[in-house]
Amino acid sequence: MKGAGDSRAPEPPSHVQPPPTTDDAGFLALNDKISRERGFGCASYKEKCLRRRIAVRMRARGVHSYGDYARLLDQDAGEYEKLLDALTINVTKLFRNWETYEAVSRLVVPPLWSLPEQSIRVWSAGCSSGEEPYSMAALFLSHAESVGQGAKASRVSVLGTDIDRASLEAARRGSYEQGAFADTPEELRRRFFTPGWPATVVPQLRSLVSFERRDLLAEPPPPGGHHLVVCRNVVIYFDRPTQEALFERFHAALLPGGYLVLGKVETLLGRARTLFAPVDSRERIFRRL
Ligand SMILES: C[S@@+](CC[C@H](N)C(=O)[O-])C[C@H]1O[C@@H](n2cnc3c(N)ncnc32)[C@H](O)[C@@H]1O
Repeated sequence: MKGAGDSRAPEPPSHVQPPPTTDDAGFLALNDKISRERGFGCASYKEKCLRRRIAVRMRARGVHSYGDYARLLDQDAGEYEKLLDALTINVTKLFRNWETYEAVSRLVVPPLWSLPEQSIRVWSAGCSSGEEPYSMAALFLSHAESVGQGAKASRVSVLGTDIDRASLEAARRGSYEQGAFADTPEELRRRFFTPGWPATVVPQLRSLVSFERRDLLAEPPPPGGHHLVVCRNVVIYFDRPTQEALFERFHAALLPGGYLVLGKVETLLGRARTLFAPVDSRERIFRRL
């Protein structure tokens, strides 16, 4: 689990400058190579962010041109993994930005729990090492228990998806070090995790959550229609046209009246603004029209 305990994705320090921008052809060729060979669609990510993250790896390896770095990737599979690790920014925490979870537990969970249908489907898109989907599932389980319906909690299923296989492996293990709990209220930690470190998700909560590798840019949303889509701290890394397309995709993934949670960092752009009604403008919670 990379970076647990930080509240935001850390940018490389400012002295880590990208190599000279005159080598645009080299940069584009490197992007093409990464997209072609590893299926990481560089073209949809913000260029500045990509350049800074590639620069970190180039400096770490003492390489001064994009061309030399591309040759190094051909010779060193370990470096390729480190680069992809740097590009997929996996920073997260359990109950990250508690205020968002508090708003979801108040404004989203009770109306969804009251729905007559048997199953409640939640999608955490860009779930990293699983902290977000487990936290969402814990809100539903807590609510079910608070209304005396804990035995019915299995009607909730939370699917966490991410492009990064290593993060998904950590997510499936569901064991977290202390830093991952910095935003977690003590009573939730005690109720849903084993004592000691690392603390592991208790089986009842684990059984509500599943994981799947899915590239948000290249693959359609999981099928079935969702009552709640949570996508936080992911779309900021994409360029604007990609962000707009993704919001429309989330709309299509939701059932009518379903909720979209973006959290504080991101907001709806473009045509998508006409497709949702605000529920909580501060925590960027919306309802599908
Ligand atoms: C900063 S983490 C956000 C984790 C969590 N949502 C949160 O807010 O704490 C961003 C995640 O987006 C994932 N990601 C980046 N590009 C993606 C893509 N094209 N498809 C799916 N996931 C992607 C990364 O692998 C990373 O795990």
